[in-house]
Amino acid sequence: MISVAIAGSTGSIGTQTIDVVAANPENYNVVALATGTRLDDLVRQAELLRPGVVAIGDQTKVDELRRRVPNGTAVIDGPEAMAQIAETADVTVNGVVGFAGLPVTLACLNAGKRLALANKESLIAAGPVVQKARATPGAELVPVDSEHAAIHQCLRANNNPDRVDSIQLSASGGPFRGMNRDELRSVTIEQALAHPTWSMGPKITIDSSTLMNKGLEVIEAFELFGTPAGLDGVGVELDQIEVVVHPQSIVHSMVTYSDGSTIAQLSEPDMKLPIAYALAFPDRYPAAFGRINWGEVKRLDFEPPDYEAFPCLSLAFEAGRAGGTAPAWLSAANEVAVDAFLHSRLGWADISSVISSTMDRYDNQPADSLESVLAADRAARATTTKIVEQR
Ligand SMILES: NC(=O)c1ccc[n+]([C@@H]2O[C@H](COP(=O)([O-])OP(=O)(O)OC[C@H]3O[C@@H](n4cnc5c(N)ncnc54)[C@H](OP(=O)(O)O)[C@@H]3O)[C@@H](O)[C@H]2O)c1
Repeated sequence: MISVAIAGSTGSIGTQTIDVVAANPENYNVVALATGTRLDDLVRQAELLRPGVVAIGDQTKVDELRRRVPNGTAVIDGPEAMAQIAETADVTVNGVVGFAGLPVTLACLNAGKRLALANKESLIAAGPVVQKARATPGAELVPVDSEHAAIHQCLRANNNPDRVDSIQLSASGGPFRGMNRDELRSVTIEQALAHPTWSMGPKITIDSSTLMNKGLEVIEAFELFGTPAGLDGVGVELDQIEVVVHPQSIVHSMVTYSDGSTIAQLSEPDMKLPIAYALAFPDRYPAAFGRINWGEVKRLDFEPPDYEAFPCLSLAFEAGRAGGTAPAWLSAANEVAVDAFLHSRLGWADISSVISSTMDRYDNQPADSLESVLAADRAARATTTKIVEQR
């Protein structure tokens, strides 16, 4: 029996993780749940799953949570509570959104456990700090992001990392694929939230519409597969990671080898599949969450991304190349800009220009400690907030 802790249990990744565990109760059980603010949902999940511990980020709700959880479920509180749940299970699924997921990522790896990582922002912002934590004996990072789960699988088609030529990261293109800069000036929140192939939380859905999600994923792929300490240690450079727009979201990513052969991973666009992969690896989850009906797949299209219409993608490549705390700045600036857009304080096209103005003020610091990453996150947020206010 594999015990599972879920951070961000009320969100899109969190609830789908519960579905995956519930579909296979002989092999998996949920022992801990943590979330940010949604108390009623957390209580319902605790009644259903009877975990040993739960935690809620909003400390004003802790007393009510204590009154309402079922007998046998303990509530842990305080600023470390979220991280503590990551030490309780064999596997922690980190489905927290944004930089707030960093304590979970670090606590799980530092405890020498498996981290099923959906929260890409923690790896992007704090890459070198997370790499150190990954060196903890027993620690293991298995990506949940569908593209990185695909690459993780494609890399297992060959046992010589020196023969990897390049990685092709799939992008659906989002809801605005094919639109030019002029057409993009007037898009609305509702249009940006209507993703054509994936159903996800609001922040990542907006990131998908600007292609910042793909830019963040390039840096995520570099952290996972590029660095010598990387999960699969293939040592690719950032510019060996190519973005390929593939609107059907069936091919989740590819690896091309030195002989020109490309290995791809294909499945239905359903996040339960990479979640199940991360829980079961190196085994395979025994049941399928949807199968491709090959008789119905008429075509698979591929095209290059439009860097001019979607400047966030270039901003991410630039931050990845700059290294240091530039990815932390980029990710923090993006969180602030997306939040402002979702609260109608910015237009969609302003997201990239606000991030670009923030990156112009980046102070070129190394990301050599947790303190430096936290300081970078604070500085970038303050800078972007000011830029948004001045608009
Ligand atoms: N959704 C997908 O299909 C998908 C695919 C690939 C990668 N990802 C990545 O997975 C992560 C989660 O995405 P999502 O779409 O599941 O987001 P989501 O639906 O918005 O859920 C986010 C979860 O994080 C919790 N949370 C937010 N702020 C928190 C804080 N300060 N402290 C503690 N918990 C906090 C939320 O709790 P409350 O709502 O209770 O406040 C919620 O449970 C993101 O990094 C995203 O990029 C998602």
